[in-house]
Amino acid sequence: MRGIALFLLGVGLLSAQDIVLPDGKAKKLITDTCTECHGLDTVVATGMTTDDWRTTVKQMVKRGAGLSPEQIDTVVDYLSVYFGAEKINVNTATAAELQKALLLTADQAAAIVAHRKENGNFKDLDGLKKVAGLDAKKLDSKKDSIGF
Ligand code: HEC
Repeated sequence: MRGIALFLLGVGLLSAQDIVLPDGKAKKLITDTCTECHGLDTVVATGMTTDDWRTTVKQMVKRGAGLSPEQIDTVVDYLSVYFGAEKINVNTATAAELQKALLLTADQAAAIVAHRKENGNFKDLDGLKKVAGLDAKKLDSKKDSIGF
């Protein structure tokens, strides 16, 4: 029952006809290609990083969406800009927010805050990687979600 209620609520808030995509190179492509199997509401429901959008769009192509490799790039660029993951600002976020957004341990998140207090704001990803105890590879994979 709860699933049905949530489903109806979702439809009420965001009915498929109400969705107007922002103007851009991929707007027509997405409107034409990505509505064959589900509504645009499915497409715009989540904010994802560029990497995650690429994975998702490739999955859709496997399922049957007719896009050439160049069109995949266009669509991924567009979706990452307009429906991208929200960035977390590593200079203002609390340790708890950092931990949640970047999937860190409590110690790692605390280390970021301590480093910031001692050395001032981070300017870029390389600066962030200098914090002791952080996994540079993991930060790279989250780079679209990190703001300064
Ligand atoms: C051939 C059918 C088909 C086409 C075309 C298609 N999709 Fe999907 N899509 C699916 C199915 C099946 C699901 C999973 C069930 C659902 O959520 O409706 C899905 C789910 C999704 C989801 C939810 C996340 C997920 O992975 O389950 C997103 C986002 C999405 N599609 C985006 C797109 C985009 C962007 C396009 C155009 C490039 C597209 N889809 C074209 C079949 C398709």
